[in-house]
Amino acid sequence: MEALKEMDALKEVDANDTYENDLPADVALDCKAEKIYYSDFLAVRDSHVPIKKNQITGFIGPSGCGKSTVLKSINRMNDLIRGFRFVGNIHFHGIDIYDSNIDPVSVRRNIGMVFQQPNPFSMSIFENVAFGLRLNRYKGNMQEKVEKALRSAALWKEVKDKLKNNGLSLSGGQQQRLCIARAIATEPRVILMDEPCSALDPIATRQIEELMVELKKQFTVAIVTHNMQQAMRVADQTAFFGVDISKGGRTGYLVEMGPTKELFENPQEQLTKEYLQGEFS
Ligand SMILES: Nc1ncnc2c1ncn2[C@@H]1O[C@H](COP(=O)(O)OP(=O)(O)O)[C@@H](O)[C@H]1O
Ligand SMILES: [Mg+2]
Repeated sequence: MEALKEMDALKEVDANDTYENDLPADVALDCKAEKIYYSDFLAVRDSHVPIKKNQITGFIGPSGCGKSTVLKSINRMNDLIRGFRFVGNIHFHGIDIYDSNIDPVSVRRNIGMVFQQPNPFSMSIFENVAFGLRLNRYKGNMQEKVEKALRSAALWKEVKDKLKNNGLSLSGGQQQRLCIARAIATEPRVILMDEPCSALDPIATRQIEELMVELKKQFTVAIVTHNMQQAMRVADQTAFFGVDISKGGRTGYLVEMGPTKELFENPQEQLTKEYLQGEFS
């Protein structure tokens, strides 16, 4: 129970406070996925992905290599899937989020998530943003909090006069920014985004990319993207995953990871080289 209390206490602690753990100071969250299963299917193996503080970490790689599986494991989103099993640990502010006494709900409060398809609730713009705060029984000034989140999500100017309108009445790009506002309203430490732009047009995509770069000042961000140019534009660190078919299965694994520029310009692994050549030729 101690660890769970600590998880909740995270909210009150200044981001600069140091926690007793063995992580390098610039790492917000250290994901060591030894094995990830869906029932008896080994979806991912041997993937150690350190996520750096106030940076954007991009996950790239071919379809089915486990990018989403790893990303969703980080806030225990996959717990909701029957047969899902994570072997390894994820260190976050001195705790292992897979520790048996950690409440996944408190994990998700600290590590928010934005999905591929914008998914506002069928309720007002205001209530969409207030949703998580109400869930957490927030007692302060709701108006202020909602405005702050909408400003941070670069949506305030567009919606300030129609906060009572349904969130679903917004355009796709606005809906995605509303989902980002909803995710950041409760002030998580980390925001995970799974292909957040793949349902959006190029202009809305650029807006979200600019927003991500703005958000990393306040938050730590990890995104899955199938768009290499996007990874190059926004990611500070890039993790490249591949698929191992050698044992008859299809198991994803981390091939290599590093600063984005280095990974793209001077990949260490042959597989990465071939993948990047394929993407850019
Ligand atoms: N809920 C699930 N149940 C069973 N297998 C799944 C489930 N989700 C994903 N998988 C499988 O796990 C592997 C990795 O999938 P995923 O993480 O979605 O890859 P990516 O995001 O890189 O495309 C794939 O083989 C996929 O079919
Ligand atoms: Mg995916």
